[in-house]
Amino acid sequence: MPKFAYINNKFVNFKNAKIHIEDRGLQFADSVYEVIAVLNNNLIDLDFHFIRLRYSLNELKIKFRLRKKFLNKIFLELIKKNNTSNGIIYLQITRGIQYREHKYLKKILPTLIIYSREKKFNLPGKNFKGVNTITYEDLRWKRRDIKTVNLLPNIMAANKAKQMKAYEAILLQNGKVTEGTSSNIWIIKKNNLITHPANSDILKGVTRTSLLKIIKKTSLKLIEKSFTQKQLLDADEVFLTSSGSFITPILKIDKKKINNGKIGNITLKLAEMYSKSFIHG
Ligand code: PDD
Repeated sequence: MPKFAYINNKFVNFKNAKIHIEDRGLQFADSVYEVIAVLNNNLIDLDFHFIRLRYSLNELKIKFRLRKKFLNKIFLELIKKNNTSNGIIYLQITRGIQYREHKYLKKILPTLIIYSREKKFNLPGKNFKGVNTITYEDLRWKRRDIKTVNLLPNIMAANKAKQMKAYEAILLQNGKVTEGTSSNIWIIKKNNLITHPANSDILKGVTRTSLLKIIKKTSLKLIEKSFTQKQLLDADEVFLTSSGSFITPILKIDKKKINNGKIGNITLKLAEMYSKSFIHG
């Protein structure tokens, strides 16, 4: 368990870290968040996380003054204090505390919550794993581009996956794949790499953004276009991306094995290129 969290303006004991019962994050999910990977004490894709955080705050008009240098300093102090050389940093900003009323006040002070936790990552190497997945109806709202804690449909889908002994649920809207419950989904067919466009139907993943840069160095043809469940099941290779899972191969979707249930060569190559980019920048 972590020892410390950072709430509003101070480090507090993790066990006793508390927020108010009328915090709008608790009552209305009126709140945005980021999950940042920490690998060998490095904060992965931090700039992209800040860009998205600023976007989410702006879209919801949460008036939090985002000071990147300051937050960076807190992150580094936290991972040191908590001994999180490998893990994640969780950051959440709620609109703040107010008597319960749907309409928010102009002058409300956002709540800042940060902590770090250890996590083992699935990286290319001898223990690199592929995972099983299920498909599930996408029950979410129409602004999935904002990274809010409004995650109940994702929780339902993820727990259905758990019940089916699967790692992730791939979400479907009108027969087309949007994304995973906490990841973006990619398919490979011949030399084409296809993923959903970054519009309001999906979260624009930071890992997705990083991978797009890497793809430019390959001969793969990138197609940012939504694809059907049939294309998903017929793909040569399928993988997911997220800050918690980096690039993770998908070996099975419902009852259908992908690439005979083996990690595909292109997925492996991309995963290797992505993990190398942490080291070389
Ligand atoms: N989730 N789509 C959704 C709905 C997500 O929640 C996430 C990340 C992603 C991938 O985004 P990124 O590459 O920036 O992590 C896509 C985080 C990890 C979470 O909720 O734990």
